[in-house]
Amino acid sequence: MITKVFTFSLLFTFAFLLVWSLVSTWYFQLVARLSLQIHHSDGRTIPRQAPKMLVGNLVDVYRAKNRLSAYHGFHEKFGEIVQIFWLWRQQISVTNYQMARRILIYNQKNYEKFTPNSLIQKLYGSSVLTNTGDNWQRHRLLMNEVFSRKHVKGFHDIFVDYSERLAHQWSKRIDQAGENIKLNIYDDLNALFLDIVGKTSMSHDFAALNGEANQFLANIKYILNQSTRPVHQFTKWWQHLPLSSNHKLADAFKYVDNFLNELIEARKNINKQSNSNSSNVLDLLLQATDFFEDNIQPLTDKEVRDNLLAIIVNGHETVATSVSLTLYSLAQHPEILARVQAEIAEVMEKGGGQLTTAGVAELNYLDYVLLESLRLYPPMAGLQRISLNSDVLEGWAIPSQQAVGITFGPLHANPEYFGANPEHFNPDRYLDTEGVPALAGAVVTTKESTPLSFSQECPVKWLHSLAKHDKGRTKAGVCLPLTFGDGARKCLGEHFAMYEMKVALAVLLYRFNLQVAPNFEADLELGKFGLFISMFPKTGIELIVSRRKV
Ligand code: HEM
Repeated sequence: MITKVFTFSLLFTFAFLLVWSLVSTWYFQLVARLSLQIHHSDGRTIPRQAPKMLVGNLVDVYRAKNRLSAYHGFHEKFGEIVQIFWLWRQQISVTNYQMARRILIYNQKNYEKFTPNSLIQKLYGSSVLTNTGDNWQRHRLLMNEVFSRKHVKGFHDIFVDYSERLAHQWSKRIDQAGENIKLNIYDDLNALFLDIVGKTSMSHDFAALNGEANQFLANIKYILNQSTRPVHQFTKWWQHLPLSSNHKLADAFKYVDNFLNELIEARKNINKQSNSNSSNVLDLLLQATDFFEDNIQPLTDKEVRDNLLAIIVNGHETVATSVSLTLYSLAQHPEILARVQAEIAEVMEKGGGQLTTAGVAELNYLDYVLLESLRLYPPMAGLQRISLNSDVLEGWAIPSQQAVGITFGPLHANPEYFGANPEHFNPDRYLDTEGVPALAGAVVTTKESTPLSFSQECPVKWLHSLAKHDKGRTKAGVCLPLTFGDGARKCLGEHFAMYEMKVALAVLLYRFNLQVAPNFEADLELGKFGLFISMFPKTGIELIVSRRKV
C-alpha cells in the first residue's frame, strides 16, 4: 500500500512538473515573442514589468492601491510607453502627446475602437458609440448637428432650471441645519445631471433630484454590470443559459426597450399633431436629415433608440464626476474659488440676477477652472484602440492587431506639455504671461454646427510660434488636456457637457461657499472594464457647504 501511494505521488509530482515546465516555456516564449514585436528604431525593446506565469501583470495591479495607481506606477517606472500583460493577452499604454495625436488624428483610420462584447453591443445596438466605418460616419454626421452649439444653447433654460432646483435643496438643508452643512455632493450631482439629460434628450423628468428611484436606470445599470463579468466578456452564449441572472437580464433589456420605444412613439405622435419645433434631442434625431441638403439616410426608429440610450448613459456620470471634482479642487484653493466667484457675480449682476446665454460665454476664467479640473481628473481615464495595420509611433514599431491604450493621468502630469508643477491645480497655466486669457473663446466658442475642436500641437516650442495667430492654441505654450479625446471620434457631447457644467458651477458657486470636510480626501478609482475606462470618486466628495451673501 505504502509503495502504491509513493509511486502515485512520484508520478503525480513528475506529471505536475512536466505540465508546469511546458506551460511555463509556452507562456514565457509567448511573452518574449510579443515583446520583441514592439521595438524602437534605436534598438530598444518595449519596457515592461516582468509578467508572472499565466497571470501576467495582474499581480502588480492588485498589489497597487487600485488599478488607477497601478497604471500610473508602470509609467512612473518605465516612461511614456509600457507593455502590460493581462493573462496571456497584452496591451501597450502610451502617455506621449505626439503618439496620442497620431493614434487619434493623423493616422486615426489605422486605430479602431474595440469591438464591444455582445451584451454592450445589444444594449447600444447600432449607435454612434458602437459603430465603425461608413455607418459610424452617417450617425456622427447627423448627431454632430444635433449637438451643435446652436442646439445646445437651446437647452440653456433647462440647465439653469435644474441647477437652481439643486441650489434650492441645498439652501433648505442649510437652513434646517444652521449655518452650514456637510454634504456628499457626488450623489446630488449625479441626480442633477441625470434629470438634465432626461429632460434635454426626451423631455422626460427622471425626478432623481426628488430622490425617486429609477427603474429605467436600475435596469441599465444591471445590464452594464453584467456586461463586465468575464463570462459575458469572453462568450456570446452564456446569456442564453437558463440561469436566474440571465432571466433578469432578459427582463432588463425588455424594460429598457419598451421604455424607449414608447417614448419615441409618443413623441412622434406629438410632433405629427402639433407640427411643433423640435425641443429635445429625440425630436432633433427624428428630424436630423432635414438639416442636410445632401441625401443622407435618416435614422431608423431602432437607431434613434440606440443613440438616445448612448446619450443618456454617457451624458450624466461623466459630468457629475467632473463637477464634483471641480468643486472639490476649488474648496482646496480658496483664492481661486474667490476669483471665479467674483467673475460669476459680475456676470450675474449684468444679467439682473439671471444667468443668460451671453453670460455663460463671458465666464472665461470658469473655462480654465474646468479645463484644469478635467486635466487633473479625467472622468474617462484613457482611451483604447486596436491597430489595423502596422505603424510607427515616435520610433516604436507597432504591429497590426495591437491593443493600444492612451492613459491620461500620466500624460496630463507631464511638465513638458502642461508647464511647471503639473500636480497642482492651477487654472492660470492656460493664461499667457500678461494674464490674458490665452484661450479666449476656444473652449465654448466655435463655428456654428461644428463639434469643438482644439487643433493644438505639441511640443511646446512649436506651439509658441503659432499661438498668437490661432485662438485654438494656447499662448501660454501649454497643451490642452485630451480629456474629451481628439480626432474624428472626439466626444460628441463635449460642447453639451462644457455648457451644462458651466451653468451648474455658476449657479452653485454664486450661492454657496465650500470647504473640504475635515479628514476627507478623494479616493479615485477606475470603473469595471466596460466600453470606456471610467474614473470616479469611490466614496463620493464630502464638502462643508454654506450660504454666500449675494
Ligand atoms: C465631462 C464629461 C465628458 C467626458 C470627459 C467625455 C469623454 C469622452 C471621450 C474621451 C470620448 C471618446 C472615446 C474614444 O475616443 O474612445 C467620448 C465619446 C463620446 N461621448 Fe463623451 N464625455 C463627456 C460627456 C458626454 C456627454 C454629456 C455626452 C452626451 C450628451 C457624451 C456622449 C458621447 C458619445 C455619444 C461619444 C461617442 C462618440 C463617437 O464615438 O463618435 N459625452 N466622450
